Amino acid sequence: MVMEQLSGSGCGVKRASPSAQCGTGGVILSDWRLRRWAVSPLALTIVAFWLRIPATMLSLSVNIDHVATLRQARLESFPDPVQAAAAVELGGADGITVHLRQDRRHITDRDVELLRATVKTELTVEMAAVDDLVRLMTRIRPDQVTLVPELKTEVTTTNGIDLLKERIRLEPVVKRLKKARIRVSLFIEPDTAQIEAAGRLGAEVVELNTDRYSRGWNRGTRLLDELTSAGKTAEKAGLQVHVGHGLDYRNVVPILENRVAAGYSIGFAVVARAVYTGLQGAVVEMKRIMEVYS
Ligand code: PXP
Repeated sequence: MVMEQLSGSGCGVKRASPSAQCGTGGVILSDWRLRRWAVSPLALTIVAFWLRIPATMLSLSVNIDHVATLRQARLESFPDPVQAAAAVELGGADGITVHLRQDRRHITDRDVELLRATVKTELTVEMAAVDDLVRLMTRIRPDQVTLVPELKTEVTTTNGIDLLKERIRLEPVVKRLKKARIRVSLFIEPDTAQIEAAGRLGAEVVELNTDRYSRGWNRGTRLLDELTSAGKTAEKAGLQVHVGHGLDYRNVVPILENRVAAGYSIGFAVVARAVYTGLQGAVVEMKRIMEVYS
């Protein structure tokens, strides 16, 4: 999926040109035609673009719903997810994600408004495709909306949206969000028919549901293979590939090794670890794991 970068420890140039070598300190080019490009990162970027070598850009968006869950457990004003978002960003996260549920059981409208004003990275709002939330988002304008199915009785999101069944309802929602210049992601099962339907709906991103994988990841490779193949299919369809649900510090590693996705949406494991390490430290640890594969 993603080839190695031209700089850093990756050896992408080797594939691009047999006469070029690379090392940890950068690229050593023996070919005179390439040597003159070796002077700056900008030149490397131009070469990568020219050779159509995509850089590995892995992003981590941390879901901070459970900071709000703790606040709501006592109907207090703390811990505040807005303050938590700042700590997450200090830890090096590339984005903040919140799920604005219809019952507002954890994240509230106030949180999303304040996060929009304060998040310096990227703000993603997960939500059901319902009219009042679409209207609210076209006003607040997060960077991305991830459409998810929502059941009143569920503890957390369980399945991906069935795009084959929901197409007629989702089409106008995707259009309205895109018109407001919000990137649209669809949370789906790692399944070819669902991925193709996401492309037809005009989504820019698919988030592959890793719930089943995260429960059975250490019992054979079937679930990982399924995700890997879905990631490839989505990428071929021109979709950005994200993964999320149930990922933690251990089960994320095979997904990274297989270069399944560029975007990682991880919440519970990071917030749970933060109880011991602090939020910033918990994010630093996750980023450190991801950086091995960047
Ligand atoms: N992606 C989606 C669509 C979700 O609904 C959730 C949970 O809110 C996550 C990712 C994060 O899952 P977890 O909290 O298990 O890391």
